[in-house]
Amino acid sequence: MRTLILTDVHGNLPALRAVLATPEAQSCQRVISLGDQVNFGPEPREVLCLLQERGALMLLGNHEARLAHADAPEYAGYNWNMQRWTKAQLTGLSINFPVDVQEGGCLFTHGAPGDPFHLLEPVDLPALLDSLPEGVTHLFSGHNHAPWLIAHHGRTACNPGSLGILEDGRGGTAPFAVMEAHGDTITVTRHCAIYDVGDTARAFLHTGCAAAAPEMSRAVLHTMRTGEYQAVLKLVRFVISLGDPGDAAVWREADRRWPWRESMSTPEFWHRMEASL
Ligand SMILES: [Fe+2]
Repeated sequence: MRTLILTDVHGNLPALRAVLATPEAQSCQRVISLGDQVNFGPEPREVLCLLQERGALMLLGNHEARLAHADAPEYAGYNWNMQRWTKAQLTGLSINFPVDVQEGGCLFTHGAPGDPFHLLEPVDLPALLDSLPEGVTHLFSGHNHAPWLIAHHGRTACNPGSLGILEDGRGGTAPFAVMEAHGDTITVTRHCAIYDVGDTARAFLHTGCAAAAPEMSRAVLHTMRTGEYQAVLKLVRFVISLGDPGDAAVWREADRRWPWRESMSTPEFWHRMEASL
């Protein structure tokens, strides 16, 4: 049995399609998606529907967990525009996914076991692997958008890396893993597909995602193009350093001062992008 393991698609449909079209993915009998299927990217509904079509087992990511409360008063600010826009795209679809799934010697989760918000770093993995329940030899997780595959004391931890917003310096790259089980023997291999980030940029514009959350969409697209680690988080931290992140005026001030790669305001950036596509 070959299983395609992917994570953190984040609404990036061109990246997901590129992965599903690879021979490695097409030779898999099933798909497991380790959470954060949606939010940040421009086609969350299409991503969920395509994964459902492929019969994927989907886990709960921190983004799905937060979306359940997207209409709560604490998420009313400008900084949550992306989340509210994503929620509106998902009308009628269920995002009620399990947190962890254990199957034979494999444990599948989003962040850390039992907590989709817990961001693991590679340094945490040896102790975590030592603490896994008896009989579990392989831990598959996502959440951290940079990948890893490490072995420790006979156990293995695999994070395929974010399929939709990879943060390891490789723009336009969609990573995934294939797990193959033969009896008690489990092998894991890592792969990647190349996709056209221009297709995702077009989707940011035609779906209205960029209009709903212009600065955040631009930062997400920047990471998709460059693979820069945590670009969105760095921007949000900068906004917070200037004032209330729920205030649109604070984001406009941040936009003026943020060292964007293209030295122009975000409205100008999207205007030029639209003209060039
Ligand atoms: Fe994520």
